Amino acid sequence: MRESEGGVDILSSVVTSQTELHADFGGVVPEIAARAHAERLDGMIEEALAKAEIGFEGLDAIAVTAGPGLIGGVISGVMSAKALAFALDLPLIGVNHLAGHALTPRLTDGMAYPYLMLLVSGGHCQFLRVDSSEKFTRLGGTIDDAPGEAFDKVAKLLGLGQPGGPKVEIEAAKGDATRFKLPRPLLDRPGADMSFSGLKTAVLRCRDALVAEKGGLSEQDRADICAGFQEAVRDVFTHKLRRALDGQEGLTGVAVAGGVAANKPLRAALEAVCAEIGLPFMAPPLALCTDNAAMIAYAGLERFHAGQRDGMDLKARPRWPLDQTSPAMLGSGKKGAKA
Ligand code: KG4
Ligand code: ZN
Repeated sequence: MRESEGGVDILSSVVTSQTELHADFGGVVPEIAARAHAERLDGMIEEALAKAEIGFEGLDAIAVTAGPGLIGGVISGVMSAKALAFALDLPLIGVNHLAGHALTPRLTDGMAYPYLMLLVSGGHCQFLRVDSSEKFTRLGGTIDDAPGEAFDKVAKLLGLGQPGGPKVEIEAAKGDATRFKLPRPLLDRPGADMSFSGLKTAVLRCRDALVAEKGGLSEQDRADICAGFQEAVRDVFTHKLRRALDGQEGLTGVAVAGGVAANKPLRAALEAVCAEIGLPFMAPPLALCTDNAAMIAYAGLERFHAGQRDGMDLKARPRWPLDQTSPAMLGSGKKGAKA
């Protein structure tokens, strides 16, 4: 990434997927994930530099994801970054993965602070007021599962393959969302907190009822379930967005980020709410919604300008909530807050 007059240019963005390595196991296997990170990182760094047409000598700083996430992969990245920073005598900057997502609208559109961010990924779901690269205030979030997790689970229940989000979106486009009545959890409660685990269970029941009745699911059944599910998620997002915006002063706009923000009907629904309220809405290009290193480089750049540097004692953190002041919503036990 290089700074330019208009903002920043992404010189290269190399992404590798491990999906096929975990496919036989029905979920991510931590040991396989850690090993794949360690094995692939060197080659990816080389590829990123080659595509950017710069060498190590062209770098000014090294930014790296220092958490939160599966610890083996995070450690592989942090160790590689430390080795590079040490060998090249460059500043090292640890970045929170979620800050990478939350700052993406600044990378792509130079969005000014403060703005409201709906961060929706495989592991997270929260409304954040973003006041600076360091100041995030959670206005609401999921009290159980993340929507991405729910999309993946629904895809699994219907035999659609992984990652589930894009598969469910494609099926939903062919379906009738009104056929199955699925719940919209917590809509009747005040505040911007959300819940998705009941919705997931409702999809399971719906599938089982169809199997019991007809012995299996047709293509149309699958599409209708996906459409109903996606519409339920849409309704939760749009209602809770209005609640999260309630009483917030001075916002420049609303943005989404994280893997689920790649979903086009969900983006459109959020955009419609913003248009009605009269706030600009920003959704990053699809490739910058899902996990990528460019967003980490950008968040690192903001920290770099703020004079923040990390030492060789930078720790890989499995848990690292963005909002350090609000009470923990998830996983507040011995291991620390997840969000
Ligand atoms: O942000 P991300 O790439 O990884 C992290 O979790 O950090 O998000 C991945 C999640 C997965 O659960 C995936 O199913 C979901 O984002 N996802 C989608 C879509 N594309 C990816 N969910 C709904 N619709 C999509 N088009
Ligand atoms: Zn992510």
